[in-house]
Amino acid sequence: MDLKQQINRRRTFAIISHPDAGKTTLTEKLLLYGGAIQTAGSVKGKATAKHAVSDWMELEKQRGISITSSVMQFEYDGYCINILDTPGHQDFSEDTYRTLMAADSVVMVIDAAKGIEPQTRKLFKVTAMRNIPIFTFINKLDRDARDPFELLDQLEKEFGIGTYPVNWPIGSGVDFKGVFDRDRRQIMTFNDFHRGQDKLQAIECDITDTEKLDELIGEYSRRDLVDQIELLDGASFDFDLDQVRCGKLTPVFFGSALTNFGVEPFLENFLKMTTAPLARNTKEGEVIPESENFSAFVFKIQANMNKAHRDRMTFMRICSGKFERDKEYYHVQGKKSLRLSQPQQLMADNRQIVNEAYAGDIIGVFDPGIFSIGDTVCEAKHKVEFEGIPTFAPEHFAVIEHKDSLKRKQFVKGVEQIAQEGAIQIFHEPNTGMERVIVGVVGVLQFEVLEHRLKNEYNVDVIRTNMPYQFIRWIGNEGIDVAKLNLTSDTKWVQDFKGNNLLIFTSEWNINWALEKNDGLILEDFSKN
Ligand code: G4P
Repeated sequence: MDLKQQINRRRTFAIISHPDAGKTTLTEKLLLYGGAIQTAGSVKGKATAKHAVSDWMELEKQRGISITSSVMQFEYDGYCINILDTPGHQDFSEDTYRTLMAADSVVMVIDAAKGIEPQTRKLFKVTAMRNIPIFTFINKLDRDARDPFELLDQLEKEFGIGTYPVNWPIGSGVDFKGVFDRDRRQIMTFNDFHRGQDKLQAIECDITDTEKLDELIGEYSRRDLVDQIELLDGASFDFDLDQVRCGKLTPVFFGSALTNFGVEPFLENFLKMTTAPLARNTKEGEVIPESENFSAFVFKIQANMNKAHRDRMTFMRICSGKFERDKEYYHVQGKKSLRLSQPQQLMADNRQIVNEAYAGDIIGVFDPGIFSIGDTVCEAKHKVEFEGIPTFAPEHFAVIEHKDSLKRKQFVKGVEQIAQEGAIQIFHEPNTGMERVIVGVVGVLQFEVLEHRLKNEYNVDVIRTNMPYQFIRWIGNEGIDVAKLNLTSDTKWVQDFKGNNLLIFTSEWNINWALEKNDGLILEDFSKN
């Protein structure tokens, strides 16, 4: 297979959801189809799940949760699929957002009884920034669900995107009878075998075959379905692949991941509708995936997967060309040529050394501490530099101080290194030193990770004082005199390590106040550099 064919068959996507909507279950079913795992329950995901890759961080073992995300690659029907796992639950962190930067499309899992939930909202916002395709899997139809029209309406109103239901549910909960495939004009039945979770072939029946439909789903459900389809065909958006590809129209699938109902049709449609690896912007212009020249960017750094080593694991997304194991590449920010040490690809339950990989793939390499989030690795002869990964607004803040003033040096080093990996963000009040650092995190668990790592790796005990702030905004106006801004007394001015000016707020009300009282003030909720 040539380079172009290899790249064109790749599909790299992330699955996002609010905890408990069914992300792990859906991922697992997809991996089962791809033959990547043999039994359900092998994908790590939550407290109760088995920990297959449990030599990762010590804290992970202690808490019984997965702090880090991984990438799972499998083959299906000629496609080479990379699923990027986005950490959720308590381990929700900036990593979750950054993973979305490495994906070419996103699958959003929604619990049919709950509709859109807070974490989905946050992740959607980040996805929408990139105009990449978004697919919606409305899950748990085998349980009582909300009205499907209401669910679509919520997606359209809250997210401002069009919806195109690819299939349509027939009832829910104990009355769940199956789905109607809009393209084929057929129904696929859900029956009691599915409740037993057997992978049994659903019965298909044409929508016009009234007699058989009555037999399969009952007259009442049939009439209801026909009415709903009529309404849907009249009112819903038309299918438009271009709109899907730029994230303006989301194809919606109804199903039940647990009972494996609707997963395979979802996968098949998804693979056809989504895109192969996309071109990426660099400071030198657009880089197309099929380019002969290898290039990749770092989107995630994970510390101390093996405590015996101080090594970190750096994950990069290949954006163009082909990666070859023994070849020398160029690290743009470090201005150095290097060979990537032990390049690996991660599966659900093991890691493999890779000899070659293509645009769309993710590789993990051991890193002695040279890479930062957003760095570019490419061919020395064809240097490019990818646009940086945005820094996302943390939502929890605390002051961190070292207990023992003799440990100041280790404290500063530790905090700076951990911030460089992107696990936390650090700020300080203007005109103060590094004695008192304000740490901002996206998920509160990161505070514990920070304390744990400072103690274990840098031998520093810290005192943490949580702060009441919940919102941070980068000031977009160049050269503004922040001290002169008219702000509420509980709004704080801080700077990040690059010297950018930011404001932290205790409420949205205070943000609006700042905007109203300071004409022309620009506040941004992520930083591009
Ligand atoms: P997450 O990764 O999004 O957090 O969700 P996860 O897949 O772990 O699913 C959360 C719970 O919802 C699990 O139950 C799972 O079995 C259940 N679930 C997922 N998909 C479906 C579905 O289609 N129908 C039904 N009825 N349940 C579903 P749990 O009891 O919390 O865990 P477990 O003991 O089953 O592992």
